[in-house]
Amino acid sequence: MDMNNVNIEEIVKQVLSGMTGKGEAPAASAPAAPAANGGIPKTARVAMMTEKKHFELQEYPLPELGDDDILVKVEGCGVCGTDAHEYKNDPFGLIPVVLGHEGTGEIVAMGKNVKVDTAGKPVKVGDKVVTCMIFKDDPEITMFDLNKKNVGGADVYGLLPDDDVKFNGWFADYIFIRGGKFGSTFFNVSDLDLDSRILIEPCAVLIHAVERAKTTGILKFNSRVVVQGCGPIGLICIAVLRTMGIENICAVDGNAQRLEFAKRMGASVSVNFMEHQGIEALTAAVEEAFDGHLADFAFQCTGNPKAHANIYKFIRNGGGLCELGFFINGGDAQINPHFDLCSKEINLVGSWVYNLRDYATTFDFLKRAKAIGLPMSELITHKYPLEQINEALETNLAMTGLKIAIVNK
Ligand SMILES: NC(=O)c1ccc[n+]([C@@H]2O[C@H](COP(=O)([O-])OP(=O)(O)OC[C@H]3O[C@@H](n4cnc5c(N)ncnc54)[C@H](O)[C@@H]3O)[C@@H](O)[C@H]2O)c1
Ligand SMILES: [Zn+2]
Repeated sequence: MDMNNVNIEEIVKQVLSGMTGKGEAPAASAPAAPAANGGIPKTARVAMMTEKKHFELQEYPLPELGDDDILVKVEGCGVCGTDAHEYKNDPFGLIPVVLGHEGTGEIVAMGKNVKVDTAGKPVKVGDKVVTCMIFKDDPEITMFDLNKKNVGGADVYGLLPDDDVKFNGWFADYIFIRGGKFGSTFFNVSDLDLDSRILIEPCAVLIHAVERAKTTGILKFNSRVVVQGCGPIGLICIAVLRTMGIENICAVDGNAQRLEFAKRMGASVSVNFMEHQGIEALTAAVEEAFDGHLADFAFQCTGNPKAHANIYKFIRNGGGLCELGFFINGGDAQINPHFDLCSKEINLVGSWVYNLRDYATTFDFLKRAKAIGLPMSELITHKYPLEQINEALETNLAMTGLKIAIVNK
């Protein structure tokens, strides 16, 4: 994903500026030391980004555990567009930093005060957990909300500046989840397999988008739904709709391979825009795919302003649209407000990130998707060990796969 928006960078910078300071000079890169007692080593490795486009494995002593802290052995972590953006240009000014926020692993030690996760579910050593970017004191806010009162104490693991703790991101052997004033949000997800746990964060984006779509009152069991864009976001969108029982789904993209995958994920029909010249022909193809009907609802899952302008044409009068394709600024789109919005009475909602409640719903979605046989695991097209983190980020930048992940041995 090409993230080129300055606003989001400024916001992240401001959020992070209130946090802990930069760390000291890195230790030499070395493999993890042997376990001392109880299987927990004295030292462990982090993948420290020491300069643009360069991670280095460094070994540090594991921090002493306070009564509210949790030590997690990392099993895996997805590579996000934000990581790739930071890797390429350091727009957030975080170097040196341990990135990785889509991670999951096993609790190996925890302080005596830790009893339950953010949802109130009991936790114990051996449980599998994920952290969440959303702060627990207000489940309705999305990350980087500048109106948040205590922004300086927030816990965006994987986007934290380096400090004495060192184990601040999921691209590591261990991560240190801090309790107390830090207000970390984490969830016990022991009932999900590793691939599902790695996919939680992007899936939460779609749970939120569908919740937003439902506020229009248009999305129903028998709705005809267009999903435009079949990258990970559009593909997961289709999966979420399928788990809700919606089957009349038309996937639109220009990539035949992705459209094939969209069908395996649950789309009933697909339209390749490369095969149709001009918006009239494209609209006719969508209409034909729905046996002569336009869509009741559409999800816009590309970062292309042209695609935003196009999608109104695919929707019937009184239908709905959820625009979620622009996590960052992708430029202006030109629509005709009379024809596209007013006279059609389109119900438009925007969607950005997720809230804590969406996170909990996402766990149920992932179980349901697996139960009905959707090929969710295949969204993770590349798995690299921590030693190959530079390759993992390069693969993400090359955009040759769908989801890239670091999976520890
Ligand atoms: N709302 C949020 O909180 C949120 C969160 C994450 C990502 N996003 C956004 O979602 C978008 C999609 O993410 P992704 O990871 O799936 O990206 P991606 O680049 O992998 O996929 C986009 C897909 O759209 C297709 N496409 C491009 N132009 C098109 C057009 N005119 N018509 C139809 N299809 C077209 C591409 O072929 C590609 O398959 C991104 O732009 C990202 O910014 C939003
Ligand atoms: Zn992310």
